Amino acid sequence: MGALGAATADDGAAQTPLERGAYLVNGVMACANCHTPVDANGPVLSKALAGGRLFDTPAFKVYASNITPDRETGIGAWSEAELRSFLTTGIRPSKVPVAPIMPVAFYKALTLGDLNAVVGYLRSVQPVRNELPSADYRQPFAHQEAPFANKAFREADLQVPAKRGMYLVTLGHCLECHTLMGKDGHDYGTAAGKGGRIFAGPWGESRSSNITAHSDAGLGNWTDDEIKRAITQGVSRDGRKLKPPMAFAAYARISPQDLDAIVAFLRTLKPLE
Ligand code: HEC
Ligand code: HEC
Repeated sequence: MGALGAATADDGAAQTPLERGAYLVNGVMACANCHTPVDANGPVLSKALAGGRLFDTPAFKVYASNITPDRETGIGAWSEAELRSFLTTGIRPSKVPVAPIMPVAFYKALTLGDLNAVVGYLRSVQPVRNELPSADYRQPFAHQEAPFANKAFREADLQVPAKRGMYLVTLGHCLECHTLMGKDGHDYGTAAGKGGRIFAGPWGESRSSNITAHSDAGLGNWTDDEIKRAITQGVSRDGRKLKPPMAFAAYARISPQDLDAIVAFLRTLKPLE
């Protein structure tokens, strides 16, 4: 299987753990959106998951890591237990905590089966040698608790569409981008899903949308198909092409069943103007 995998989850029961891992990593979790470098032609597939994208903030200047199994420049020397622990705590085997741009606070939601599937898949991708500059941690940082991440999801819960949708929206860290920052981090308490965060990049600027169930300001009046088209094709209700950094290409791999679940859950987000 290539780094991008071809698996979908139309038939969850028939998926092997490796297929499940590929589906999560390349689909709703969209690791490549940060961990695969981009050039003028888009993602550099020969360097899939080999890192290098720069995130420069007042608190830290870091490069998305090489998460291929290359032993020297990637994570090939980490044990599976170290990788599992890292993905849910953000603490590396070296004990150096990762910068909070890496959404580990959301990945805490992973069921044990899915955590193992993600780890198994990461071990199976092509190792790529790609040496990166080291991180510059300028100010102390903390990982803010993520909405719904402490729900202790169990496989049985995930049969209920809105619950499954809550799980998938958490793994996709949708609310991280779709919630404004207050002075103590994201304002999940009163503005979850209200949007308004600005993202600057080669695309210019984009501002995350209101994805709550509000009928005018949010998605309340959108049809299910309109919401799914926005997520998987990056097209807004009025036909406008949506800008990055939302990972439309990865979300295009989300199964129809999981998209239904995501929409069902978004419809339960408290309407905010
Ligand atoms: C929003 C961007 C973003 C997403 C999405 C993301 N990461 Fe990361 N990740 C980063 C950045 C940036 C770093 C390095 C931060 C630092 O050096 O402190 C990192 C670090 C890591 C590391 C530590 C590697 C090392 O050598 O220290 C691993 C492992 C990792 N990510 C795996 C993943 C996996 C698996 C996914 C998807 C399930 C994922 N990441 C999704 C941005 C992201
Ligand atoms: C990395 C940040 C980021 C993540 C993660 C993200 N989004 Fe977005 N999203 C945006 C931005 C920015 C826009 C607006 C883009 C524009 O207007 O050009 C947007 C637009 C949308 C829209 C279109 C709304 C409209 O009014 O046109 C929907 C629906 C949406 N996101 C849902 C989601 C869902 C569901 C997830 C998780 C599966 C998600 N987003 C994850 C940044 C993000």
